[in-house]
Amino acid sequence: MEAAPAILPLANRHIALGVTGSISCYKAADIASKLRQAGATVEVVMTPAATRFIAPLTFQSLTSRPVVVDMFAADEAEAHVEVARRADAFVIAPATANCLANLAHGQAPDMVTLTALATRAPILVAPAMDNQMWDHPATQENVVTLRNRGVEFVGPAEGRLASGRVGLGRLAEPSAVVGALRMLLGQRTGDLAGRHVVVSAGGTQEPLDPVRFVGNRSTGKMGFAIAEAARDRGAFVTLVTGPVALETPYGIHRVDVATVAEMLTALEQATADSDAIIMSAAPADYRPANPSEHKMKKGAEDGLSVDLVRNPDIIATLPGGGVRVGFAAETRNLEEYARAKIPAKRLDFIVANDVSAAGSGFGADTNQVTIYHRDGSHETFPLMTKYAVAMAILDRVKARL
Ligand code: CTP
Repeated sequence: MEAAPAILPLANRHIALGVTGSISCYKAADIASKLRQAGATVEVVMTPAATRFIAPLTFQSLTSRPVVVDMFAADEAEAHVEVARRADAFVIAPATANCLANLAHGQAPDMVTLTALATRAPILVAPAMDNQMWDHPATQENVVTLRNRGVEFVGPAEGRLASGRVGLGRLAEPSAVVGALRMLLGQRTGDLAGRHVVVSAGGTQEPLDPVRFVGNRSTGKMGFAIAEAARDRGAFVTLVTGPVALETPYGIHRVDVATVAEMLTALEQATADSDAIIMSAAPADYRPANPSEHKMKKGAEDGLSVDLVRNPDIIATLPGGGVRVGFAAETRNLEEYARAKIPAKRLDFIVANDVSAAGSGFGADTNQVTIYHRDGSHETFPLMTKYAVAMAILDRVKARL
């Protein structure tokens, strides 16, 4: 099946990117590229100092747009105001200590600070400097001034600095800068702003002994995509996840669990005040009855039998949580099995997929789902990215809030 056109998180967004003179300027190229890949139109403004670290041509090539540096160039006279007006958000990355000082005091000696003064869009600042400069009371006071004015910060991160020292001052990773921007835009304009969405993801691991477990093939990708999409729409997201190999998306409150018992406890806490619970995890239905305290040793016998006992059904056990969404991963009789789970688990709707179909299920970046509603109706979707499936799920959650 052909995949449906991708839904990009920053589609139709104009993002202005300000680059000031820091050794971490090379990472700004990656930020520009990632913004573009996320669907944004990106317009770069630079300080003259930044051009000593990286050429405007780099950004011009990455964004397919002119880069503005010289605020006095005749053909760019109005350009700064236009960039500032068009922007849905202004990201300054990297922002030097000097840039923060200028911003705090409303000074505009270069295109970056000038754009900050001229725009009414939200501003996200990613500082980068030596830790002594970051820690200096002058810088810290500027940060407080800017925060009080509504400017958002991402980073700086801790780590090895250009000076060779280790400390706070590294530019946040490009993925964090883009994540922080998506969160900021969601909180200011998203339809789930102010909501608390709880998502479960991944499989559980039920111990047989200290080194072995009973588990399943869930990778957590669907749940992580839902968490990111909910954040992008402004929700505060709690992500309760089994052991998976995925990085925590920026701004998401992640709770790591291993067993069904741990997942149940974490979800009971998280759903006490939630507006929605989206149960995309694959909890084990059974666990070993008597896990061994020490590593099991081979015996003389040819075989080994393990007694399993039933785990609680997590979503059926949770009393509320707001809008309740379940998943059904099946390999046959999809409709019949999926529909039966709606009343049994008191769901508003269930997202069903045939995990044996090509492009769907465990580990894939796409999924082909049918949503069965409590009222008996259903909607079948084409093969889509998991992010697009997440958006479709959240549209239906939103409609029930
Ligand atoms: N689920 C749960 N707790 C469990 C097992 C499943 O909360 N112990 C949730 C899943 O997260 C999913 C839904 O219930 O949202 C359906 O899971 P699935 O494994 O398809 O269904 P089961 O109820 O386990 O039924 P079966 O395995 O017999 O198909």
